[in-house]
Amino acid sequence: MLDIQNISKTFEKGTVNEHVAINNMSLKLEDGEFVTIVGSNGAGKSTLFNAICGSFMVDSGHILLDGKDITYDSEHSRAKVIGRVFQDPMKGTAPNMTIEENLALAYSRASKGSNPFARAITKKKVEFFRENLARYNMGIEDRMKTKIGLLSGGQRQVVTLLMCTLSIPKLLLLDEHTAALDPATAQKVMDITKTIVSENNITTMMITHNMKQSLTTGTRTIMLDSGEILLDLSGDERDNMTMEDMIKMYSMKKQKEFDNDRILLS
Ligand SMILES: Nc1ncnc2c1ncn2[C@@H]1O[C@H](COP(=O)(O)OP(=O)(O)OP(=O)(O)O)[C@@H](O)[C@H]1O
Ligand SMILES: [Mg+2]
Repeated sequence: MLDIQNISKTFEKGTVNEHVAINNMSLKLEDGEFVTIVGSNGAGKSTLFNAICGSFMVDSGHILLDGKDITYDSEHSRAKVIGRVFQDPMKGTAPNMTIEENLALAYSRASKGSNPFARAITKKKVEFFRENLARYNMGIEDRMKTKIGLLSGGQRQVVTLLMCTLSIPKLLLLDEHTAALDPATAQKVMDITKTIVSENNITTMMITHNMKQSLTTGTRTIMLDSGEILLDLSGDERDNMTMEDMIKMYSMKKQKEFDNDRILLS
């Protein structure tokens, strides 16, 4: 499904600020895998997502999606098959457009390519969007004509999630998408995420700063450090892994304490 082959990215090469953000990283995901990603601040988690989405070109290596080499594809063309939800609920939606306009735009982009008529908001489409929103009890389904900027953070994240998944993406990337929400809303958005991912068997990568969540959500956990994959856990090894074990493994491999001011250890 996703096949990352020896990618590297150095920022500000040749300056005093030169920084290797991704260091010869390889990673293979099978169809339907749900991978959680943890790692200290600056480990390269968001940079990995940026590389996959084409926010910049990698310095070396290749990225294949469903067997197709997308290494040199534009961000725009990758966005048709890769959905992404950010930590900031303000990102990913157009605040001055209504819920139905945002959904229609995203849906047509992903499903019909450049056909301008696909953007039309038909009654049938609105009903389809409404039915999907109603399933999640976020109180949004009767506000289809409300501008998205007026919604709460949690409501916006659910709309963004639907924008990314109503037309099923090949890959869904979640970058701490519940981190800016209060605990109850974060839990609700997480539950909705799990439902959408499992019902549609979407191959998913989710960055989280909650280490426990990284072990209990999805099927595989990857710890990044200094632009490299430090741990890659699945199956029994993952099932039996505790947060304490994970931190110990980090310290053993790196010969230093795990350092992160944002990580949640409980
Ligand atoms: N566009 C850029 N220009 C220069 N440096 C960058 C750029 N993007 C990322 N970096 C640097 O690359 C490193 C990795 O950043 P990245 O955002 O991937 O970290 P992260 O693992 O997502 O961390 P966090 O948990 O804080 O979100 C950091 O040192 C960061 O400053
Ligand atoms: Mg990040």
